[in-house]
Amino acid sequence: MRLLDKVAIVTGAASGIGFAAVKRFVEEGARVVIADFNEEAGKEVAEQFQHEQVKYIMTDVSNRESVKELVNQTIEQFGQIDILINNAGITRDAMLYKMTDEDFQQVININLTGVFNCTQEVIPYFIKQQSGKVINTTSVSGVYGNIGQTNYAAAKAAVIGMTKSWAKELGRKGINVNAVAPGFTMTSMVEKMPQHVIDKMVDMIPLQRLGKPEDIANAYLFLASDEASYVHGHVLHVDGAIMM
Ligand code: CAA
Ligand code: NAI
Repeated sequence: MRLLDKVAIVTGAASGIGFAAVKRFVEEGARVVIADFNEEAGKEVAEQFQHEQVKYIMTDVSNRESVKELVNQTIEQFGQIDILINNAGITRDAMLYKMTDEDFQQVININLTGVFNCTQEVIPYFIKQQSGKVINTTSVSGVYGNIGQTNYAAAKAAVIGMTKSWAKELGRKGINVNAVAPGFTMTSMVEKMPQHVIDKMVDMIPLQRLGKPEDIANAYLFLASDEASYVHGHVLHVDGAIMM
């Protein structure tokens, strides 16, 4: 068991990649908090696990008070935090000339400020215990850019900048910080894309398939485990080599 006795917060874990991570982490012995904005889905997925092992806490990562509450409740219920997976994210795709201020700001608030909020609230616990793992979710779009994703690519590129800054700041405190950059992965996010764009993307992937949520969950698991203790400030691409 690679995460025995560890407590992980996974944001955006009521569906898709985050939910796959919860299942994988539980298999490896972790206790997990599902921190998600979607209360109905969050409660429903948490019920699939034993209550002592998985808890749902309603969280809006873009809201500082909500994140404080998440951290307080996690400590209250599980007594510790060892792993933070900043996985929550949204898309509001539009061509630059059609993108509204609201589309832009909402993506920044959740995909960028949300990562800042959660990490800043959790980090005092990690510093106190001189250990902890922060894993941020960026994207192939944040590394290479993508049509229709001005807002999303900006936020995801900024997450890489934060990951590297935190690796430099927090390494000396025994805290590992890394990011995972998924490629196009079969979740509701990709389901919203026009089919002809999905087809174009699959054509570009040497493995000739989209990613599965489990492919990304396994990368989170590796970075969260002791096996990755000397992996630090890294952006792990899990994308079938779409842009190689
Ligand atoms: N790659 C290549 N070409 C693309 C493209 C893409 N990602 N997105 C759009 N295009 C092309 C279209 O094929 C179209 O080409 P033609 O003019 O030759 O027909 C042109 O750009 C304009 O597109 P639309 O007619 O669709 O324009 P629209 O204004 O109605 O919609 C859009 C624009 C909202 C960006 C829509 O095209 C779209 O949703 N595209 C997909 C954007 C995308 O890739 N999002 C990723 C979502 S998954 C995710 O975000 C996870 C992750 O981290 C990767
Ligand atoms: P998803 O839409 O299935 O899951 C995202 C989850 O985040 C949802 O459960 C949603 O309720 C939650 N969420 C949204 N706003 C929130 C908020 N303010 N506070 C808390 N939770 C919130 O999407 P998916 O694909 O599982 O995405 C997970 C992460 O992976 C995201 O950061 C996404 O940007 C990233 N990613 C996804 C890729 C893909 O192709 N699916 C590719 C690259 C990155």
